[in-house]
Amino acid sequence: MKSKGGFAALTSILVVAAVAVAVFGPWSRSPRQAMQAVLPSAQALEPASGGSVRSFDLTAAPATLELLPGLQVPVWAYNGTVPGPELRVTTEDLVQVSFRNELPDSTTIHWHGVSLPNGEDGVAGVTQDPVAPGHKVTYAFVAPQPGTYWYHPHQNPAEQLDRGLYGALVVEAKGATKAGLDQVLVYDEWPMGAGQATPPPGDDATMMRYGVYSVNGKSGNGIGPIRFTPGQTIRLRLVNAGYLTHYLHIHGAPFVITGFDGSEVSGGPPTDHALPLAAGERLEVEFVAPAGPMVIRAHDPSAPAAQMRVPLVPVGQPVPAEVPGEQDSISGEVLDLYNYAAKVADPIWPSGTAPTKSFTLKLSELMGHARSDTAGMTGMSGNQSSFGINGKSFPDTANLEVSQGDWVQITFANEGRLEHPMHLHGHDFQLLSINGKPTAGVLIKDTVDVLPGSAITVGFVADNPGWWMLHCHELHHAGGGMDTLVRYKDAPRLAGLGGPFEGSPG
Ligand code: C2O
Ligand code: CU
Repeated sequence: MKSKGGFAALTSILVVAAVAVAVFGPWSRSPRQAMQAVLPSAQALEPASGGSVRSFDLTAAPATLELLPGLQVPVWAYNGTVPGPELRVTTEDLVQVSFRNELPDSTTIHWHGVSLPNGEDGVAGVTQDPVAPGHKVTYAFVAPQPGTYWYHPHQNPAEQLDRGLYGALVVEAKGATKAGLDQVLVYDEWPMGAGQATPPPGDDATMMRYGVYSVNGKSGNGIGPIRFTPGQTIRLRLVNAGYLTHYLHIHGAPFVITGFDGSEVSGGPPTDHALPLAAGERLEVEFVAPAGPMVIRAHDPSAPAAQMRVPLVPVGQPVPAEVPGEQDSISGEVLDLYNYAAKVADPIWPSGTAPTKSFTLKLSELMGHARSDTAGMTGMSGNQSSFGINGKSFPDTANLEVSQGDWVQITFANEGRLEHPMHLHGHDFQLLSINGKPTAGVLIKDTVDVLPGSAITVGFVADNPGWWMLHCHELHHAGGGMDTLVRYKDAPRLAGLGGPFEGSPG
């Protein structure tokens, strides 16, 4: 008996060793060592001069969300809420986030829009191995310039964001006068069971089953009124954590746009037009609170957008069923957002600068092609569809090789039928031209929506070495291959795709 037990134990040791050699190769000295994942090093240990250390705890775990009154849905959430906690810091603070993964799957956190050290960027299979269930890591970075940012997983992101994993990161200017009311609104769409709601029309098959739309994790009547005091300054920070472009119409007060993605602008004209907000984008608007109620509606072509109606009502006043004009159609009144005539304080691309590297990325759907590492998306038609950059799907897309100090220009040319909001990690870019015409304002962004048939040129300075994702933020398209990397010459790649940790960034 005794020797049989000993034999069983020995056998299992041998099996473990054999598996370790098979999986990790003979160079692994021990399976334990081989299992050492590449994780964020929390390398920014000091705040910038004058900043303080701000520590946060985030735990991702399954939870329940009351999305609509009476509709409880199982979600994955940061600290039990959707959106996750709003992280509000001051520029130059050291942001330290200790993150625990209590999900059944491995995950990461990406800090969308923040230019940080490559190892803190949270991209599974590129900058780190995903964090296994039950494990803990710390991310650290110095808070960037004032603006609105957000965080979400970058391991199988389409699936993980859909379950509710996202939250806002607000960076305030040091010593700035605060608005009387400073409110973040995070927009999202939810894939629900059949018959849950009317599916949106439109030709993007990947969005057909998304029937419930939400603002700050609530839909329809579940969205409570936001209370304000007439005459105070209201700043709204609009974040699109979903995949569709929403046309947000603020009824009841003209406003100015004060921020695009993570950068502030000034000097723009007051407007009351609808604001197109594409996946991954953020907008900040400001206005003086009127005497009566307001409402923010999404005037999208799709029916469930009616569920994204946010009432803003003066303290003490009843919530009206409707405010004047809110049913009006917006045709002809959508703001030409990227030609908004506002300016950033510090442009990154002095006019007339010649690029030292330039790239053209042709974006398109590739029907009938599957990406080489996984099967492509299966559309409603049952066809394999994938998405490409210059005819290739990630990871076969050509990388953009740059050297530190390069003036890099990228032209995104959309040759497909669907819009593609393209997002670059680790850098801000300046919008330079749209369809060959210079933009009216001077805007800096990290995500830009490229409409079918249009071409947008952006410029940035290569000042942050590493391997950085550049992808469509309609994350089904990213999952179908519309990703590439901006890769600095001589910068090490920190983590690899697949492997024992199954890093899967798109
Ligand atoms: Cu918001 Cu690559 O992500
Ligand atoms: Cu896309």
